[in-house]
Amino acid sequence: MSETQETGADAAVGTAQETLSVVDNRTGKAYEVPITDGTVRAMDFRAMKVDEEDFGLMTYDPAFTNTAACRSAITYIDGDKGILEYRGYPIEQLAEQATFLEVAYLLIYGELPNTEQLKEWTHAITIHTFVHENVKSLVEGFRYDAHPMGMLLSSVGALSTFYPEAKNIHDEQTQYEQIVRLIAKVPTLAAFAYRHAKGMPYVYPDNDLNYAENFLGMLFKVAELKYEADPRIAKALDVLLILHADHEQNCSTSSVRAVGSSQVDPYSAVSAGIAALYGPLHGGANQSVLEMLARIESVDNVPGFIDRVKNGDEKLMGFGHRVYKNFDPRAKILKKAVEDVFEATGTENPLLEVAKELERIALEDDYFVKRKLYPNVDFYSGLIYEALGLPVEMFTVMFAIGRTPGWVAQWLEMVGDKEQKIARPRQIYTGDRTRDYVPIDQR
Ligand code: CMC
Repeated sequence: MSETQETGADAAVGTAQETLSVVDNRTGKAYEVPITDGTVRAMDFRAMKVDEEDFGLMTYDPAFTNTAACRSAITYIDGDKGILEYRGYPIEQLAEQATFLEVAYLLIYGELPNTEQLKEWTHAITIHTFVHENVKSLVEGFRYDAHPMGMLLSSVGALSTFYPEAKNIHDEQTQYEQIVRLIAKVPTLAAFAYRHAKGMPYVYPDNDLNYAENFLGMLFKVAELKYEADPRIAKALDVLLILHADHEQNCSTSSVRAVGSSQVDPYSAVSAGIAALYGPLHGGANQSVLEMLARIESVDNVPGFIDRVKNGDEKLMGFGHRVYKNFDPRAKILKKAVEDVFEATGTENPLLEVAKELERIALEDDYFVKRKLYPNVDFYSGLIYEALGLPVEMFTVMFAIGRTPGWVAQWLEMVGDKEQKIARPRQIYTGDRTRDYVPIDQR
């Protein structure tokens, strides 16, 4: 960044340049800030000072609504057009043609695997699905009614104590082993959490089954010798996992990156991601959607509910998105998947009618149209989970299983990014300054 003598107006005239001219009206000084990839560097503003003592200008961006914190080649989103691509491949094509493990490989390594690579990758994940018996004891130690997300984030964090070598975050072989373990073991831990709440014995992984089938088996196996999943249900689950696999710099992924930037092991970083996902504004929204649909109860009550949303007394859960100001492309794919799953399970869910009516009214209503509020991925995913027989507490856990490859891909990218340092935002201090301590008897 350079300091120039010209005024802002002068700088704006003439041929287009990839710079921003700024005049600091406190001092009258003009500055030229480079623009790269449609972005200015916040640190370039630090040179703008009123005097030598001054710290320099900062940018203020609570909730990071307009701040890029990294360069990333993993996921592309165009929120206005409703586009989502993993490594350049449209989500619609991946959901229709790829498997979840193929997508995980793509996210992490940047390319679709060939036959040999996919075979090796699938084998590695499959043989790492078991957890140490002491992890099982740890899960057993939770209260009978513990929320499975709390159990998942603790047990994933605990894995770091079983694999202390994971702290060698720059070693390629170690990175690979922890990535495989995370993708392999998260479903096992998730299923243990589910069985714990049910008071049922935990089911060990079955390495003959594929990723989705094995997870369904660990959830639902009772006394049968071999669990056999309905292929339509296993496919729908696989699609759901693909749709959740990454979503660039959302709250949980930013948490993984921020925590990982301290160079802690990936289990601890992913555990922070699970904690962020637990919140009702993020991954917890699918649970809130189902609870909302149950409260509305019938199609007749939809108009009254919409009025309450417009009055600010309620929020229409599963609508709106920080990035998508158009249809969330994942919601479109899921709307169709819901019908397929209902056909496979033979269940009729009256809440689906409530959901469809809510969507119909909201898409026509001025309140939602003006604010560009469209259904997001959570609007329909809960209905699928419910059709699979999962309790609402498990919904966010399903999201976490799907998001794990995205978290590790983003973690890996961050670890290898020379521009990254420990994450450390600034603040605008609003408190008192330099007060003398007052002894307690004088307060
Ligand atoms: N229902 C009713 N009004 C809403 C909703 C909603 N779901 N979402 C946003 N608005 C209104 C909001 O009140 C505001 O109105 P006004 O301009 O009159 O103050 C306007 O729309 C803009 O909203 P915002 O809060 O500035 O938007 P945001 O980008 O900060 O919030 C969001 C994004 C996802 C947190 C929010 O839309 C929301 O709370 N949605 C419901 C929860 C939900 O479905 N979350 C899942 C997100 S997708 C899965 C994931 O990525 O985790």
